[in-house]
Amino acid sequence: MTLTAAEKASLVALSGKISGHAEALGAEALERLFFSFPQSKTYFPHFDLTKGSDDIKRHGGKVLSAIGEAAKHVDNLEQALSKLSDLHAYNLRVDPGNFKVLAHCIETVLAAHFPAEFTPEAQAAWDKFLAAVSAVLTSKYR
Ligand code: HEM
Repeated sequence: MTLTAAEKASLVALSGKISGHAEALGAEALERLFFSFPQSKTYFPHFDLTKGSDDIKRHGGKVLSAIGEAAKHVDNLEQALSKLSDLHAYNLRVDPGNFKVLAHCIETVLAAHFPAEFTPEAQAAWDKFLAAVSAVLTSKYR
């Protein structure tokens, strides 16, 4: 993934805003995912998927914190996401199509909560970045 300096700056700026609100923003992204793409719920049979549940908040927090952390390592995503890549490929085997829709839901949440910062240029940067994160998390499938 090649990002310009401006794109990298936009990732870092918004991920700074995400930290501290990771649970709430992540929960909203997951709720949008589960509502719009119900097939994604099949990976979470052990979760309470009711809107606002503790499971959704806790997991949403984990996902957005991982993304915030990855944004600090855009030049070395393979290494930064190595453990998560093992988990998603070897244990979870999530169909890669789900990553695209989750990325879409995350971008929607960012646009809704940070309209001033989520400019068209910022969206392009996040789109590239989330596609790269998804590519790493699905890279070990075989
Ligand atoms: C677990 C991140 C995409 C399904 C996790 C964990 C993180 C994470 C941080 C917790 C790992 C741990 O507890 O050690 C991400 C990121 C994604 C992504 C950054 C893409 C941007 C997906 C997608 C699905 C999915 C698209 C399926 C629709 C799961 C499941 C678990 C998990 C089922 C285990 C939940 C549990 O039992 O606690 N993911 N994930 N992930 N992820 Fe992902």
